[in-house]
Amino acid sequence: MDAILEMRGIRKTFPGVVALDHVNLRVRSGEIHAIVGENGAGKSTLMKVLSGVYPHGSYSGDIEFQGRLREFSDIRDSEELGIIIIHQELALVPLLSIAENIFLGNEMASKGVIDWDKAYAKTRELLRKVGLNESPDTLITNLGVGKQQLVEIAKALSKNVKLLILDEPTASLNESDSDALLKLMLELQDQGIASIIISHKLNEISQVADSITVLRDGNTVYTYDCRMATISEERIIEQMVGRQMDSRYPPRTPQIGETIFEVRDWRVFHPEHSEREVVKGVNLHARKGEIIGIAGLMGSGRTELAMSIFGRSYGKRISGKVFKNGVEIDTGNVSKAIKHGIAYVTEDRKGLGLVLEEDIKTNISMANLAGIATRQVIDKAREHKVADGFRKQLKIRCSGVLQKVLHLSGGNQQKVVIAKWLFSNPDILILDEPSRGIDVGAKYEIYSIISALAAEGKCIIMISSEMPELLGMCDRIYVMNEGSFAAEFNAADASQEKIMHAIVNHGE
Ligand SMILES: Nc1ncnc2c1ncn2[C@@H]1O[C@H](COP(=O)(O)OP(=O)(O)OP(=O)(O)O)[C@@H](O)[C@H]1O
Ligand SMILES: [Mg+2]
Repeated sequence: MDAILEMRGIRKTFPGVVALDHVNLRVRSGEIHAIVGENGAGKSTLMKVLSGVYPHGSYSGDIEFQGRLREFSDIRDSEELGIIIIHQELALVPLLSIAENIFLGNEMASKGVIDWDKAYAKTRELLRKVGLNESPDTLITNLGVGKQQLVEIAKALSKNVKLLILDEPTASLNESDSDALLKLMLELQDQGIASIIISHKLNEISQVADSITVLRDGNTVYTYDCRMATISEERIIEQMVGRQMDSRYPPRTPQIGETIFEVRDWRVFHPEHSEREVVKGVNLHARKGEIIGIAGLMGSGRTELAMSIFGRSYGKRISGKVFKNGVEIDTGNVSKAIKHGIAYVTEDRKGLGLVLEEDIKTNISMANLAGIATRQVIDKAREHKVADGFRKQLKIRCSGVLQKVLHLSGGNQQKVVIAKWLFSNPDILILDEPSRGIDVGAKYEIYSIISALAAEGKCIIMISSEMPELLGMCDRIYVMNEGSFAAEFNAADASQEKIMHAIVNHGE
C-alpha cells in the first residue's frame, strides 16, 4: 500500500542529548499508526520534527510526505499540507470560546473583519463531526479535558487535515471519553484521514492501530503490521523496555493496622460559583499500611476532595474534620498539611507540581528542605545524593540532576513530581493520577515504591482513572460520583464491572 509519510534516517540532537538517532517511520495512506516507547524514547521529538516545530536544518534525514521530499521551516508549512499535531500538553486558550479557539490565527476574515456568523456555523458543523454537544460560545475553561481534546480535533478538521497526530491524547481521559476518542479516530479513518497516535495505554493501541512502531533510546526498534497478525502486549512491552516483564504489579502482602487518617463530613464549594457544592459530605478513613483507591469519572470531585484536604488548596466554604491518629488536626494551609505528614502528588504537573526553570535536584528537595539541611544550612552534597538516588531508582532520563526540568520528556517530569513527594517522607500520601503518561516499566517502579511505603506503615490514597491500576494495587476502593462516595469495595470484592456499575447507577 502507498505510504502517505516516510521519515528516513532522522537524527535530532540537543546539547548533550541524542534524542533521535537514525529513526525510520513509514505511515501508509489511511492507516492508524501507533508509536510506543518508554519515557524519553523520542516519540514527541519525532513528531515535532515531522510537523516543523523543529525546522528543516535542525535535524538530519529525509521527510517524504505524499510522495515528495519536504523541508518544513515551521509548523505553518506542515499544516498547509494537512499535517496537524495535537500536542501532549493541550494548547487551547481557557478564557476564549470554542469558536474563538478553533478560528484563532485562522479567522474567517473578509477584509480584515471576522465573520462570526460564518465562524459559529462552521464551528457547529465541526462539533457535530466530533460528536461534541456544546455551544460554540462555551468557554474552554468550562469544559473537561475530554471535551477540550475533542475541540482540538474539531480545530484540526477545520484545517483540512490529511495526517492527524495525537500525542498521548487519552492520557488524561477517563475510559468512556477515551473510547469516544478512539471511535472518532476510526471514523476519521473511514473518511481517508491517516493518523499517528502516541500512547502508553497498550490496550487502546491494540484496539485501533493498523501498525505499531516501537522506539527505544531514540532508535526505531521495529514496526509491527497488525493486519498480518495479532501482536501481544507482552511482546511490545519487551521491545519497549528491552527485557521481559513478568508482571505489571509488584507482589504484595498487605499488613493493615489501625486507622491513622480520617476525614469526616467533608464539604467543599466551588471557588467561583459559591452555591455549587463540589464535595458533598464525604467520609473517608485510611489505615496504617493500607492502599486506598478512589475511582470515579473525571469531574466527579476526586481532585477537588484531595486538594481541599491538602491545605485547602482548592475551594471555598470548606467544612468537615480531619483526624490523624484519632486527634483532630488543622490542615488550613499547605505548609500545615505538610507538617502533619500529608503529601499530595498533583495530576497537573505543569501547574502545581514543578518549577520548570529549576533543576531536578531543587525540585525534588523543595518540599523537604529539612531533609537536606544540617543545622539549618542546606547541604548541597546531600541534596545531590538524594536526587541522584531517585534518578536511578525511578530511571529519570536526563543528563543529570542539574538539568532543568523544562526540557524533560512528559513522563520524566512526572517522575520528578513523584520523587519530590516521596522524599518528603509523608505518613499519608495522596497520589492523583500517579501513572499518567508513565511508561509500563516506570509504572512498575512507582508501584514498587508505593508498596514499600505501605509496608513501612504509611497509608496511601490513590486517585486513578485507570481501573486495572486500582484493582492491581489497592486494598480498598471508594467510588466517587458527583461529589459523594457512591460505593466502597474491599479489594477481594471489587471488579471493573462493579465499579463501573456504581459509577453509572449512582443516584437512581
Ligand atoms: N528541547 C529540548 N532540550 C533538551 N532535551 C530535550 C528537548 N526535548 C526533548 N529532549 C530530550 O530528548 C529525549 C526525548 O524526549 P521526548 O520528549 O521526545 O520523549 P518521549 O518519547 O515523548 O517521552 P514521554 O513518553 O515521556 O513523553 C529526552 O531525553 C528529553 O529529555
Ligand atoms: Mg512525549
